[in-house]
Amino acid sequence: MVVEYFGHAAFLLQTKKANILIDPFLTGNPFFEKTLDALPVIDYIFVTHGHGDHLGDTLEIAKKTGATVVANPEICHYLQLEKVMTVQPSGYIPCDFGRFKAVVATHTSSIDKGETKIDGGMAFGYVFDVDGLRLYHAGDTGLHSDMALLKDEAIDVALLPIGGYFTMDIMEARRAATMIAPKTVIPMHYNTFDVIQEDPTNLKIDGIETIIMAPHETITFN
Ligand code: NI
Ligand code: MN
Repeated sequence: MVVEYFGHAAFLLQTKKANILIDPFLTGNPFFEKTLDALPVIDYIFVTHGHGDHLGDTLEIAKKTGATVVANPEICHYLQLEKVMTVQPSGYIPCDFGRFKAVVATHTSSIDKGETKIDGGMAFGYVFDVDGLRLYHAGDTGLHSDMALLKDEAIDVALLPIGGYFTMDIMEARRAATMIAPKTVIPMHYNTFDVIQEDPTNLKIDGIETIIMAPHETITFN
């Protein structure tokens, strides 16, 4: 699997059977230097919650590529697309690239609609089992003790927010990583905005590899 980071919480997973976008906040993302047209064919878009810096370009990309959007019921209803998978925190759900499940994130999920905000349901993280790798994208979340449940799941790669203010800060991300005990942590959701400035090199956890991905860097996991 090839993982590409677009900055903020946006990742592209190019797996053997599907290309998966997570939280495609690309337009307006200061780290995203490509155009939407330069994206490969997208098969799935996973949305962790309704905030604009995560829902992002989901609608436009889904309409253009026919990707299936995976999100909570409120976001799926809002999008009014034909190809959606409406999910909840659950057990693993099988699909053509492997399987996945939504997990709890402690965060809100409102959707901006014009000048108002509408209810965007519950915020999620996602765990993916794909190409022999188990990857956790935490979404936007504060530190919470349910993360300790992931320790039993032998997570290979954990994508954790470190920027603080809206999410865990780097100290809490370190505690989260200690609870989850993944092989590798990749920090995300920092330096995009003034209030989430952080130096990711400060994320050091005994026994866990930290990989700091530059925007548009790719990493291949076997
Ligand atoms: Ni958010
Ligand atoms: Mn966010």
